[in-house]
Amino acid sequence: MPAGFTARSVWADAPRSLVRAVERVLDAPIVGVEAVHGGMPPGPAAVLALGDGRQVFAKAVAAQQSAKAHGLYTREIEVLARVPDDVPHAPLVAHVVHGDWVVIVTEAASGRAVGPPWRSQHLAAATGAVAVLSAHTDVHGLPPAVDRLPALDGWELLAERPDAGEVLDPWERERLGPLVAMSRGWRTWTAGPHAVHLDVRCDNVVEHDEGVWLVDWAHAAIGAPWLDTACLAADVVACGHVGGDAVALRAAKGILSGLPYEATRFVVAMIGMFRHNSLRDPVPSAPTMRAWQARRARALRPLVETLVTR
Ligand SMILES: Nc1ncnc2c1ncn2[C@@H]1O[C@H](COP(=O)(O)OP(=O)(O)O)[C@@H](O)[C@H]1O
Ligand SMILES: [Mg+2]
Repeated sequence: MPAGFTARSVWADAPRSLVRAVERVLDAPIVGVEAVHGGMPPGPAAVLALGDGRQVFAKAVAAQQSAKAHGLYTREIEVLARVPDDVPHAPLVAHVVHGDWVVIVTEAASGRAVGPPWRSQHLAAATGAVAVLSAHTDVHGLPPAVDRLPALDGWELLAERPDAGEVLDPWERERLGPLVAMSRGWRTWTAGPHAVHLDVRCDNVVEHDEGVWLVDWAHAAIGAPWLDTACLAADVVACGHVGGDAVALRAAKGILSGLPYEATRFVVAMIGMFRHNSLRDPVPSAPTMRAWQARRARALRPLVETLVTR
């Protein structure tokens, strides 16, 4: 399992009655289970082989394991019903609500999560997929991006901390003014009418046939058309490229140079959010979360260094 992802519970430990409920709705017995990696929720995620020859992907979580993940999965079921057909995604097969469990079953991709690390062909395919998505201004029932994005005021909140002098390192202290200024106004400049996924990372992009599928749709929204492409630029640096750090950085800068300046501001603001959130209290249901945020903020520093106006 790559660093930072939660050690998820396994299907074998799921309640027998839940497994039976899934088999009932799929009208076939589960005859094989291959666990997959990725994501933070503590529940099981696996590709299931069914007795009738089908393969499906299923992820499940109990509210007792994580009320947050339970809420996200419940929301994702509604979003999946709205994803336009031409957007490369895993179509919803079924969902199950059983006691305090919620299960999402989609078609299984022919491959697995594309990284880490990224490869250029996957990056190109993911860029294409988010472009198809953002070309849609006709997806109804999704909230504005501002309702789904984490608060991106991280640099400002860090600057306001009485202990800022201690928690910030010299690199951050030196650039804090521009970092705050670049992040400001994100609620306005992330707005727009375009459909966006808002959680595009290498573990939420899976290989499928000759291309990729976007998965994990709980954060989908309506916003500025460049949002997902900017997330991809940041993720290739954060997760790394198989060609090495210099290739990752070049790819990210290349992507951002083709986008409006707000995309650069967005990446800077996202890193402030990671850095700020990494210092918050631990999340018991996602014990690796804070360390993952800290690592991400640190890994993205070479990119911010090239973006920050001084
Ligand atoms: N349709 C699919 N086929 C194969 N693997 C998938 C599929 N969807 C997701 N995965 C894998 O399962 C992991 C968890 O699924 P995801 O939808 O991202 O759930 P979570 O919300 O728990 O992160 C992904 O990181 C990916 O590796
Ligand atoms: Mg995920």
